Amino acid sequence: MGKAYAFVNQKGGVGKTTSAINLGAYLAEAGKSVLLVDFDSQGNLSSGIGVQTVKPGIYELISGQAPIGETVRKTAIPGLSVIPAGIDLSGAAVELIGEEERDFFLKKVLAPVRKKYDYILIDCPPSLGVLTLNGMAAADAVLIPMQCEYFALEGLTLLMDTIKMIKKGLNPPLTIAGIFFTMYDSRTLLAQDVVKEVSAYFKDRVFTTIIPRNVRLAEAPSRGQAISLYDPHCGGAKAYQSLAREVIQRG
Ligand SMILES: Nc1ncnc2c1ncn2[C@@H]1O[C@H](COP(=O)(O)OP(=O)(O)OP(=O)(O)O)[C@@H](O)[C@H]1O
Ligand SMILES: [Mg+2]
Repeated sequence: MGKAYAFVNQKGGVGKTTSAINLGAYLAEAGKSVLLVDFDSQGNLSSGIGVQTVKPGIYELISGQAPIGETVRKTAIPGLSVIPAGIDLSGAAVELIGEEERDFFLKKVLAPVRKKYDYILIDCPPSLGVLTLNGMAAADAVLIPMQCEYFALEGLTLLMDTIKMIKKGLNPPLTIAGIFFTMYDSRTLLAQDVVKEVSAYFKDRVFTTIIPRNVRLAEAPSRGQAISLYDPHCGGAKAYQSLAREVIQRG
């Protein structure tokens, strides 16, 4: 059975979506079968990987209006598929609140395809609300992208507490696959300090690969392309390729 990872960080704009797309692309390029799950009503992952029509997508899937087969799209990259999301997913978040099994909807709908993919990558929204809880309940492990700034450290403490809570209740086997740094600018002392401090505390749970700030990574989604197609030789591409290698090695 493959592994399901949730990209989680309640802080917005830290690189969750960019990382899900590009890690997914390089895992697929390494011969793995990969399913990206857009679980954010912003739909950034969907547009970023070039999906034009988001219906039927994850909302129709979790609300029982469409079978999973109808929601999965192929992408331009062989081996990389995606279940898209759109703004209607924010409605689902509200509808779910009242349900008894509200934290297990995603887990339930993904169960039939768990064997089909080597990796399922779930892109969560920037909050610790019901969608992110569903993401962590459905996953084997969390991947935490982190921007190298001071407030990121405070956010990380809150996130770790939440993960502990999830392990006690919703999903005891959940593990932390790792923390990795994004949008790193080696010229700033603060970035170096944050990397040092987080690495000293979380030790081998921090990935060796650091994703640099790289304008090509920010441009690629406007073309609906992963960086492996948009500019495979840029620094950002090499970094995500290296992250994919690390994820495969760590198992
Ligand atoms: N390494 C990078 N270098 C430069 N720009 C980047 C990098 N990674 C991400 N970006 C850009 O930063 C912005 C935020 O990235 P992204 O959307 O991946 O974050 P996010 O955590 O998914 O955000 P949200 O919390 O809103 O879902 C985007 O405009 C993206 O293109
Ligand atoms: Mg995002």
